[in-house]
Amino acid sequence: MEMHRAKVVQKLTLVDIDTRKQNLEAAGYNQFLLKNDAIFLDMLTDSGMNVMSDKQLAAAMTGDDAYAGSRTFFELADKIKEIFGFDFFLPVHQGRACEHLLARVFVKPGDVIAMNYHFTTTRAHIMLCGGSVIELNLPDSLDNSSANPFKGNFDLDKLKALIAEVGPQRMPFVRIEAGTNLIGGQPLSLENIVAVAKICRQHGILTVLDASLLQDNLYFIKVREAACKDMSIREITRALADEIDVIYFSARKLGFAKGGGICLRSAELYDQFKELVTLHEGFLTYGGISITELASMTQGLEETMDFDMISQGPQFIAYMVDELDKRGIPVVKPAGGLGCHLDARAFLSHVPQAEYQAGALSAAIYLASGVRPMERGTVSEARNEDGSEHFADVELVRLAMPRRLFTRSQIDYAVDRIHWLFENRGLIGGLRFVKEPKVLRFFSGELAPTSDWSDRLVAKYKADFGDSL
Ligand SMILES: Cc1ncc(COP(=O)(O)O)c(C=O)c1O
Repeated sequence: MEMHRAKVVQKLTLVDIDTRKQNLEAAGYNQFLLKNDAIFLDMLTDSGMNVMSDKQLAAAMTGDDAYAGSRTFFELADKIKEIFGFDFFLPVHQGRACEHLLARVFVKPGDVIAMNYHFTTTRAHIMLCGGSVIELNLPDSLDNSSANPFKGNFDLDKLKALIAEVGPQRMPFVRIEAGTNLIGGQPLSLENIVAVAKICRQHGILTVLDASLLQDNLYFIKVREAACKDMSIREITRALADEIDVIYFSARKLGFAKGGGICLRSAELYDQFKELVTLHEGFLTYGGISITELASMTQGLEETMDFDMISQGPQFIAYMVDELDKRGIPVVKPAGGLGCHLDARAFLSHVPQAEYQAGALSAAIYLASGVRPMERGTVSEARNEDGSEHFADVELVRLAMPRRLFTRSQIDYAVDRIHWLFENRGLIGGLRFVKEPKVLRFFSGELAPTSDWSDRLVAKYKADFGDSL
């Protein structure tokens, strides 16, 4: 049950399927390029879409607007110290700004950055600085038949072997991603974080926690890790933060606000980062974020320590996963954080991976429902250096569940339309690129169907639903 109530609402519109098809064509079959007026339920991302609380809005109104020395900044830095125990905090405009600065400070050509799984912008920044990324995920982390509750865990043997092979001098840090985004928001356990940090300490390698998706991960540690069941969310947070050298986060995800930040323990490192923040982001007490956002972040981080406030997201995701699973629809299990993830490879097993199964299914979902999902498969990958396609390990369609946003009946609607699509999946075909940017192509690339499948899908929809939207 939602332990909150709506105080402010926004009207939604659902346009008819012919208009949805026109919108999709105008957007080059890329969900990122759809205009928001064209969308009924926006499940593209949780980023910046979490719903603010009355207390956050109130805090925003009383923020102390100043270019330098704002009281609001110091209140946020105090909250960071209280929750994570870190002495230094640098605000930046969003998560990828943290990644840009971390890569600039730590990564040299030839360095190897180990992580439980990569994230798109993280990897791009590391590669731009000449480093490479090695994923140390578990053998069953991508296996839907495995019920492992912590598929985001590091494979500790792989970590030890990598350090032995590469040597700690070429590994400036190990990146630990809470709630691994690209493998379905799967969490790591506190036990695994402690073990990774221990190995890193033994070799003098820094640990960097990407805490963008920490909120859902905290929930999963409490409900799935037996040793933590009697710990409060605040205690779990502190126990894991105590293991880590550097924490960064996108506050568009963590803290129900916008912006981002880097938390540091060492004054020396703080001095190095400080210069880059003033150069690329803004002055040290606002970092390119508005004061209203800094104020709402402070309150949002406090709410993140409240089990009632952080349960709704993972519980609604679990509900959607169960409903789809009951209907035989291939979905990532166990339910993770961030959103519900469909396995597009299994859903569209008749479409070759080279025709972007996850991209095609995302487009078909928008056509059939006005729901906007996100492709998290091969379209989200960069091509290999020789120009050949780099196939993703998994072809996922993410239906993000921004925290505190959707109602159960909206989720039921999405389930119902995805079910219809599953029954008519044979009609869905593939996509090909018509405009393909070199960097982060999924954001602005344009695609087209490889046949007239979208016309046939629209015709079947009309035959089944008549004039109904
Ligand atoms: C795990 C993770 N790290 C970093 C980022 C980047 O954050 P931002 O979108 O605020 O730049 C994201 C965004 O989705 C993320 O999920």
